[in-house]
Amino acid sequence: MNLLVFGGTGRTGQVVTQSARTAGHTILAPTHADCNLRDTDRVSDLVLASGAETVINCAAVSSLETCLDDPLSAHLINAVAPAAMALACRHTGARFIHLSTDYVLDGRRPGKKSESSKCKPANIYGESKREGELQVLEALPGALIARVSWICGNPRKPSFVESTLAKALAGQPVAAIADKDSMPTDAADIARILLHLGSDPEGRSLSGIVQLCSTGEPQSWHSCALIALRHAVELGALPSLPALAEQKLAQATFFRDARPAHTAMEYSPRLAALGLTMPDAVTCLRRVTERYLAAKCCQSAQ
Ligand SMILES: NC(=O)c1ccc[n+]([C@@H]2O[C@H](COP(=O)([O-])OP(=O)(O)OC[C@H]3O[C@@H](n4cnc5c(N)ncnc54)[C@H](OP(=O)(O)O)[C@@H]3O)[C@@H](O)[C@H]2O)c1
Repeated sequence: MNLLVFGGTGRTGQVVTQSARTAGHTILAPTHADCNLRDTDRVSDLVLASGAETVINCAAVSSLETCLDDPLSAHLINAVAPAAMALACRHTGARFIHLSTDYVLDGRRPGKKSESSKCKPANIYGESKREGELQVLEALPGALIARVSWICGNPRKPSFVESTLAKALAGQPVAAIADKDSMPTDAADIARILLHLGSDPEGRSLSGIVQLCSTGEPQSWHSCALIALRHAVELGALPSLPALAEQKLAQATFFRDARPAHTAMEYSPRLAALGLTMPDAVTCLRRVTERYLAAKCCQSAQ
C-alpha cells in the first residue's frame, strides 16, 4: 500500500516506518522540517497530493512539560493538525489512523479501563489529545483512533525501561515510581497492528476508538523496571539484581504537570475479535529488554 506517516522520526513513528518498509509498503514520511504541523494548509496539501491509501499520524507534542509550557502548540499539533489530516483523508478517501493516549482517561481509581471508560485528562497534554480524538472523529467518523500507553522497545529512542537498563549496566543507582500504573507496550507490536489495520480490508473497516496495548496485569514503572532488570540478570548482562529504590508519584518533584495514577487500559475487544493478538506486559518487557541488550551489544561491537 501507499502509506503516509506523520511523525516518522519519533519513538513509534521510526518503528512504524521501518516495519512498513520491511513489509514492502511504499512510504512517504515527511519530517518536521518538511512539514511543520502548525501549518495546517501544508498538512492538508501533503495528504491531498500524497496519493496515500493510508495515513498514520504518529506525530505529537508528547512531552507533558512541553505541553504545560506551550499549551497553544499542544492544541495545534495534538488536535488541530490531526483534524486537518482527517478532513483531507475524507476528501481523498484514504484510511486515517491517529494515535492517542491512556492519559485522556480518568486515572483516579485503580483498575483497567475499558474503551467506554470516562475521560478526564489530568494535564494539558491529555486535554489536547482528547480534543484531538474528538476533532478527528468529527472531521472523519470513519477514522480509527488507537489509544496507546507507555511505549517502549525502540532502542534508538529509549523509554524509561531502556533508560533504567542503561543506568544499571553503567553501575549507576536505579529508582522508579511504584504507585502509578499503566500497560507498557512494545512499539513493534503497535506497528504490526497499525499496519494490519491500514492494509487489511477487514481491519480498514474498523472505526472509532480502540485501546492498543499489552494484555495482562497493569504494571508500575517500578515493576516494569524490576522485570527488565531481572531478565537482564537471567541473560547474563548484569551480574546480579541491583537495588531498585521505590519512589512515590507525590514525591516526583521533577514532574511539573500532574500525572494520572491509574490509566492501565484493557486491550480492545474489537481488535482481539479480528484475531490481532498482543503479548502480556511481562512478555513485552522481556522482549524489549532482549532487543535493547542486543542493540547495545551491536553498538559495542562496532
Ligand atoms: N511515548 C509514550 O509512552 C506514549 C504514551 C501514550 C501515547 N503516546 C502517543 O503515541 C504517539 C507517538 O508518541 P511517541 O512517543 O512515539 O512520540 P515522539 O517520540 O515524541 O515523536 C513525536 C513525533 O512528532 C513530531 N513532531 C512534533 N512536533 C511537530 C511539528 N510541529 N511538526 C511536525 N512534526 C512534529 C516529532 O518530530 P521532531 O522530533 O523532529 O520534532 C516526532 O517525529 C503520540 O500520539 C503520543 O501522544 C505516546
